[in-house]
Amino acid sequence: MKVLGIETSCDETAAAVVEDGVKVLSNEIASQVELHARYGGIVPEVASRQHILAIIPIIEQAMAKGRVSWHDLDGIAVTIGPGLAGSLLVGVSVAKAICLACELPLTGVNHLEAHIYANWLADHKPLFPLLCLIVSGGHSDLVLMRGHGDYVVLGRTRDDAAGEAFDKAARIMGLGYPGGPAIDRAAESGTTSIELPRSWLKGTSDFSFSGVKTALLRLVEKGKVCNIADAAASFQEAVIDVLVSKTIAAAKQHRVRQILLSGGVAANRRLRQQLVANSPIPVLIPEPILCTDNAAMVAACGYFRFQAGKVDGLDIDVVPSLKMA
Ligand code: KG4
Ligand code: ZN
Repeated sequence: MKVLGIETSCDETAAAVVEDGVKVLSNEIASQVELHARYGGIVPEVASRQHILAIIPIIEQAMAKGRVSWHDLDGIAVTIGPGLAGSLLVGVSVAKAICLACELPLTGVNHLEAHIYANWLADHKPLFPLLCLIVSGGHSDLVLMRGHGDYVVLGRTRDDAAGEAFDKAARIMGLGYPGGPAIDRAAESGTTSIELPRSWLKGTSDFSFSGVKTALLRLVEKGKVCNIADAAASFQEAVIDVLVSKTIAAAKQHRVRQILLSGGVAANRRLRQQLVANSPIPVLIPEPILCTDNAAMVAACGYFRFQAGKVDGLDIDVVPSLKMA
């Protein structure tokens, strides 16, 4: 079964063709990062307008690279939320139009669920029950997954998402946008010598990252940060310490077989390394290009939704504040 995936929830216009939910035939991404970088963050209207310009060319590119014609497709999967309403509407409208013209079934995908399904695109397939840590620009969720489409959210952030904290901390340190990759790079030549607090929120699987960000801001304001590489490494370590410890604790408590990491922050090299090094059970992490926003993960998730009979009507709407469960 060949599924065309379409993703426009935030600032990447992406299209991909995936076979049987596991084999990537094409995965095309038109990034808007440079466009938004001059504003220091995403400007929603600019994002929507850019999606309008890029969506048809990127779909044509994905079809050509995947060597598929419209007749070869068996369905379309599109992100319906969470995300920016104006951005989501572009992908959903185009997906509906193609489904109508080609008489294809449509399935609306939760972007966070799609991040989890990026793990089905690697060689080692996930085994249930598993625990997934989703760390993106808007979310930090710890999810117990007992089967396809069967989720229990064990914890989530109470304030900033991990990626959001990286982006804000990078701005505080003058490292630019997007902040996550900038901190990842800067931290490479730094030491973790600057003491920063960790919010453990004991007895829960929830997270909180606003405290560590504010602590960093105070140090910078007081002129106590002389070396940005040390600040980046120390900040990164504080966030990763909490993510890794709480994920492993939840994995032990719920006796899962594997830990899955996903979302944009899963591209962070130190997080990948620390989670693997400290986990007593296997850890699966998609390659970096499948961690940040892409449409292959949407197509993979869509395949498993089609398998479960989850076909949506052409009256489906976007859900900007869609949750995991
Ligand atoms: O999943 P994603 O691409 O978009 C959302 O769904 O939000 O995640 C984007 C987030 C941004 O906050 C970005 O700074 C962060 O992922 N990110 C990283 C790295 N690459 C992207 N954070 C830390 N280290 C990285 N290497
Ligand atoms: Zn995402």
